Amino acid sequence: MKATATANANIALVKYWGKRSSDPILPQNGSISMTCDGMSTTTTVEFSDKYREHTVTINDEEFKKDEKDIHGHIDRICKLAGIIQHAKVVSESNFPVAAGLASSASGFAALTMAACTAAGLKLSKKELSIITRQGSGSACRSIFGGFVEWVRGQKDDGSDSYAECIASKEKWPDFRMIATIVEAKKKPVSSRGGMAQTVTTCPYYKDWLSTVEDDLDTVRKGIQEKDFGKVASTAEFNALKMHATMITTKPPIIYWIPATMEIIHAVRQMREDGINAYFTMDAGPNVKILCLDKDVSEIEKRVNELDGVVNTILCKPGDGAALLDKHLF
Ligand code: PMV
Repeated sequence: MKATATANANIALVKYWGKRSSDPILPQNGSISMTCDGMSTTTTVEFSDKYREHTVTINDEEFKKDEKDIHGHIDRICKLAGIIQHAKVVSESNFPVAAGLASSASGFAALTMAACTAAGLKLSKKELSIITRQGSGSACRSIFGGFVEWVRGQKDDGSDSYAECIASKEKWPDFRMIATIVEAKKKPVSSRGGMAQTVTTCPYYKDWLSTVEDDLDTVRKGIQEKDFGKVASTAEFNALKMHATMITTKPPIIYWIPATMEIIHAVRQMREDGINAYFTMDAGPNVKILCLDKDVSEIEKRVNELDGVVNTILCKPGDGAALLDKHLF
């Protein structure tokens, strides 16, 4: 009753922002992401009678319960599998957690695949994405590789709200995302808290929703056509629209710090200079730059010259979650 899985983070090109239900987690809108090779979490889960409670260790630190209820997610999987044992979970990520870099996506995807396998469940990837979604919404996209759509669905039970691959990583191998790390600290407002507050208090939230379908269509088509300008410019505008709703909640949520603005302006300057670069951001201060492989070295050079940039992580389209033979304990 032991299994290990690895999953990559994903960064949304069309963002999930707002829940229509928090139990089960169901989104107000569909979203599209790229699964990021280069930012991964590996997790080993063992169920055994020798454990008296679930224990979760992330990057060598014992995880205390918080709003992203990992213990509750393990209970959910135990219930589904009809097992009564407790779990020991050990997880390692190769990038900063909880800094707006989608660590919960790789974390919940790896945890779900490892725990379901250890519990003896035989599931399709679509079914795994549905279970993963109940732990952390955006994580359901990390079950698949390449470019992935999380379909909104209509039903209250969530059976039609799942992720699916819309283009493999081989379809667009030179697409790149450069994550610029400006501040690898835990963020002040979680994405979960931030989106709940936005749905209830932002006067423009319905306007966000009214434009997302068009963004989904454009990005879906753009990926099929490998039209970089179409995909990346739509992704940039979509991220700005999402941040506009965050800034106009009560109280306002402003994730940006001076270094965030520094990078945004640097990317706009790059475009003036003929470099095809766009940006996107999530619920945090870090900026992810979208570009093609041929422009990576020039962009990294320029970005690393900026005062506020601590580090960059280069990602290309990566694989979906997978089981590993080697366990972490
Ligand atoms: O699934 P959560 O609670 O980590 O929310 C993620 C929300 C964004 O990262 C801001 C957007 C997205 O689609 O990933």
